[in-house]
Amino acid sequence: QCPALRRLSCAGTVAAGLRREEQPSGSVETGCQDKTPTKTFYEEQDERREQAQRTVLVHCPSKISEKEFLKHLSQHGPVHSHFFYESFGLYAVVEFCQKDSVDSLLNVTQIPAMGMEAVIPFRSRFLNLKLKSPSRPVSEMSPIQPSNQLPPSNRKLSELLYSAESVDDQLSTLLKELQLTEENTRLRYLICSLIEDIATAYFPGCTIRPFGSSVNTFGKLGCDLDMFIDLHETRKLRTHKRIGNFLMEFQVKNVPSERIATQKILTVIGESLDHFGPGCVGIQKILNARCPLVRFSHQASGFQCDLTTNNRVALKSSELLYIYGSMDSRVRALVFSIRCWARAHSLTSNIPGSWITNFSLTMMVIFFLQRRSPPILPTLDTLKALADTEDKCIIEGNNCTFTRDLNKIKPSENTETLELLLKEFFEYFGNFAFNKNSINIRQVNVLGREQNKPDSSPLHIENPFETSLNISKNVNQSQLQRFVELARESAWVLHQEDAYLPSSSSKPPWGLAALLLPSVMQSTKKQKKRCGSERIKSLLESMKSGSPESSANTSRN
Ligand code: CTP
Ligand code: MG
Repeated sequence: QCPALRRLSCAGTVAAGLRREEQPSGSVETGCQDKTPTKTFYEEQDERREQAQRTVLVHCPSKISEKEFLKHLSQHGPVHSHFFYESFGLYAVVEFCQKDSVDSLLNVTQIPAMGMEAVIPFRSRFLNLKLKSPSRPVSEMSPIQPSNQLPPSNRKLSELLYSAESVDDQLSTLLKELQLTEENTRLRYLICSLIEDIATAYFPGCTIRPFGSSVNTFGKLGCDLDMFIDLHETRKLRTHKRIGNFLMEFQVKNVPSERIATQKILTVIGESLDHFGPGCVGIQKILNARCPLVRFSHQASGFQCDLTTNNRVALKSSELLYIYGSMDSRVRALVFSIRCWARAHSLTSNIPGSWITNFSLTMMVIFFLQRRSPPILPTLDTLKALADTEDKCIIEGNNCTFTRDLNKIKPSENTETLELLLKEFFEYFGNFAFNKNSINIRQVNVLGREQNKPDSSPLHIENPFETSLNISKNVNQSQLQRFVELARESAWVLHQEDAYLPSSSSKPPWGLAALLLPSVMQSTKKQKKRCGSERIKSLLESMKSGSPESSANTSRN
């Protein structure tokens, strides 16, 4: 039996359209498609990494017989699963049961002859399939069903939200439509694995690990692929090679600082991606940033990739978010909606600048959920208190300890609906004293008081592990003010009596659908003035008492 079948991760893969060549014997775990994950972060990472190493990416002719293609590949060993997708051509992601099969396939794969041009004979697991003779008539082939790697269009999304049954249903629908699919996640790990093949030429034993939204359960289809080169494993090997009284060390070159070492490593990897990396284009070496990186596009997958080095603290924060995202099903639904709302109103952007980021928004949602009564999420200090010796983790002097055992965390007794939480989120941050207080998911607030800001940045969100860093340092006063105003407008929209009612065909967009339309938000500004209901009057009063000028303004106390 195929050894990989014993490790089958989730039944959702079948539901998601991933073809599995053999069905496993015995029961199959359920739940990774639109449910929260059940594995630990590292189990998930290790499993997917190993799976990616048994996988190849094949650019295929557009008319191809799936059956014959699989038969051809099966000469090298059993195929465990495969799927097709389209991105300027047809691609197949094929996972073999054994790694040997990949080696066998690569052994018979040829370097192409290019006529007038010369080729760089770089052998990788990104292949090109050619037909020796014309394919059979299309009518004889069963059509290939490519899996979709892109989020639904705004129009499609609006329609889905419009026809949902309740605001709760709208938030769940949004999550289901935008979250990374099983195939997209596999593709992300595969791209890391392909980049790792290039990096190991320079740094044997290194690992390229994905982090950020690709792995923290908050990734949306189309999000960037953050990855870092982990040289730590190489170091770990070295410390294990102690025999008797002898300690063997590598001969190495020294440079004046860790930063210079990072820049040198990224320089050579950036160069090799540029010269030899199939499908890697638009390579930019951004070496003077606080966290130096190489940015490039991976054409065949369509991913925008950011490669850094030794970013173990960021990996730890991805693990923390993974845990928070797995604790309660409301967390991801709320985060996706807030991120989507922020994007719809250009509060976030793909271009770096003074905008708020998705990472900051996620921290704000976690902070807000920690402050519900009873809390929906525990603070990071609580997770630290529950940690045992195995969880202890210090990275570059930063204490990154927290429990990884979800069973130790009591489920929340809070039963608030998503609809209520969405509305309360906007009210909470529409009236938050950003001028005085910081957002810190680590500590329990003493006597109900929030933490004072340590500096004058308009928005202060403490990095959970590198506590001297403000993750929203880039956000300026006017962007914060826009956020506050939009939060207030959104609270107002959701407070209108009929905002909760599913629309009939004549009704305007409602609930979350209304919040995602900048035009609706504009018109509510006018409506608000005409509105007379008591509930709204009192809400407007509370908004007045914390006007954007007074609450979002930067005070230097
Ligand atoms: N990060 C950080 N401090 C920052 C920015 C980012 O520690 N000021 C870390 C976080 O772990 C974050 C990761 O780097 O998750 C990747 O950053 P980014 O790509 O900006 O955010 P994502 O969480 O990946 O969200 P997105 O979907 O917008 O890419
Ligand atoms: Mg990212």
